[in-house]
Amino acid sequence: MCGIIGYSGPLNARKVMLDGLAQLEYRGYDSAGIAYFGDDSRIHQIKTTGKVSRLRELCGSLDDEVSHCGIGHTRWATHGGVTQANAHPHTAGRVTLIHNGIIENYHQLTEQYHLEDRLLSQTDSEVAAWVLDSVYDGDPVGSIRRFLPLLEGSYAFCIMFSDRPGEIYAVRTVSPLVAAYTPSGSIVASDLTALIPYTKSYFVVPEGMILKMTPYQVALYDEEGCRKDPEIMVVNWNIDAAMKNGFPHFMLKEIHEQPEALKNTILPRISKGLPDFGDDGISDEIFLECSQIRIVACGTAMHAGMVAKAIMEPLLRIPVTVTIASEFRYENPLIDSKTLVIIISQSGETIDTLAALRLARSMGSKTLAIVNVKGSTIARESDYVFYTHAGPEIAVASTKAYSVQLAGLYMICCRMGLVRGCITKAEGQAFMAELLEAIPAMEEMIKEKDHIKSVVSHLVDQPDAFFIGRGLDYAFSLEGALKLKEISYIHAEAYAAGELKHGTIALIADRVPVIAIATQSSILSKMLSNVREVKARGAFVVLITKEGTAVPDDIADIQIRIPALNDHFTVFPIAVVLQLIAYYASLLKGLNVDQPRNLAKSVTVE
Ligand code: G6P
Repeated sequence: MCGIIGYSGPLNARKVMLDGLAQLEYRGYDSAGIAYFGDDSRIHQIKTTGKVSRLRELCGSLDDEVSHCGIGHTRWATHGGVTQANAHPHTAGRVTLIHNGIIENYHQLTEQYHLEDRLLSQTDSEVAAWVLDSVYDGDPVGSIRRFLPLLEGSYAFCIMFSDRPGEIYAVRTVSPLVAAYTPSGSIVASDLTALIPYTKSYFVVPEGMILKMTPYQVALYDEEGCRKDPEIMVVNWNIDAAMKNGFPHFMLKEIHEQPEALKNTILPRISKGLPDFGDDGISDEIFLECSQIRIVACGTAMHAGMVAKAIMEPLLRIPVTVTIASEFRYENPLIDSKTLVIIISQSGETIDTLAALRLARSMGSKTLAIVNVKGSTIARESDYVFYTHAGPEIAVASTKAYSVQLAGLYMICCRMGLVRGCITKAEGQAFMAELLEAIPAMEEMIKEKDHIKSVVSHLVDQPDAFFIGRGLDYAFSLEGALKLKEISYIHAEAYAAGELKHGTIALIADRVPVIAIATQSSILSKMLSNVREVKARGAFVVLITKEGTAVPDDIADIQIRIPALNDHFTVFPIAVVLQLIAYYASLLKGLNVDQPRNLAKSVTVE
């Protein structure tokens, strides 16, 4: 969740850190801080509550004090409130560190090392700093090696020792860290967006190894203290992809990028009009041999799974279950070697999703991960990976990652249908052609943004909003409600329209907004009856249907029409509509669209 960066090299470290933290801020933005070796070879520290821009102000002119080695942190509070004292870095004796993760046994460590009177903050991270100081004997690698077994939990640390100017040490368990040695120096960070201005070659810091950075090199040490060569990877996007490029917000930019992201994800995997995962190394055997599919994910990724279930189960005629990762990992799931567990994660680092993956593998299931971030932990640990090619997603509210996850799931469904003999080649080709038709349909909806914006003025003064649909439309509603509440703070609930009468309709009163999605032909008339029921109780109805669907004029206050795609594929233009509703609601309320309160992009703590 937190963003961390460390730098040692010829450049102005304070500038590298502040620029890096600005790139990483989407990981957490409660407070921010840096620590660096000054001209006097001593460690200096600046930290504050609030955003990186506030930290930048506090740092003053960057040329006033030039440092060449430092660490920086942007926080998402876990232990201890949002205060300056709780902001990182934390200094304890000779140790200054930043931390992402949770040290679960911090309480025992506090007692064991008699730290009660020494702590200046309420954080588990400061406890870790004091414990490291107490084992530090002047040998950083050896001391860190003795320190790690004392910890329980997850962590990525960047550490400076006051008697080792110019050096940074980093280590991780579960929480992500990537690093690079570049002509501009050595750099480590919690994700690639901070590295990309300096290099395209990087490596993932292996769990348990200790990284030592100096201005001249990066070195990895294994458990025995032996040097190891890092496994170099190359990133296939550049810094432009992580900039706003003229858009006022990342979210709007990412909504616009969806058609391109879909093309990048789908087209390289089509051969003779059918899905082909040869280059991904995904074997058909996993599709043939499974007797059930479990889809496991969090947040928006889980909602992509809900859509996939509604597509897969009727077509493949095997049970498909979608489970929230934080539930799956503790529910003793009924899975075995004949279960295909599909793990979905944009970041590839969500801790509950990762734990679910590990559990599934330990129980003998085959795992297939749909992941956006190359080399992420989930991608590396899964049996098979389907990489989506959305490029970096920076806005906390996921948009393009959802669309490409769906595209991946649709393609997997099609391939599986073919392999299992549920569909013919011709049906598979028709399926893929319809999937491709969804791309221009999304483009059309993006062009409709002014119309969609006009809907939003009816929402923003209301405390609640309801999204209703049936069948696939219900699965889309879940994501619509999540998007709206995430960034506009309007309480939004998705409901299966047929279930309204069993409770939720009690909440429908005069002017209560109901966004009704009605794109599924087989249940259209039933859905329209449900819409009438809420309209009769005074709801302000925004009805989303396909072009050409006959709908009485008086049934809705506002109508939004999407292109007339086959029912199975309407999610793509619908996603654009729902994303734009949330975007404009947040904008109209004057909120921070890209960095909504209390949320973070990558949830790397339980
Ligand atoms: C956070 C983000 C969501 C995302 C979810 C799962 O809650 O704010 O946008 O859908 O994590 O993240 P993942 O990276 O695993 O897809």
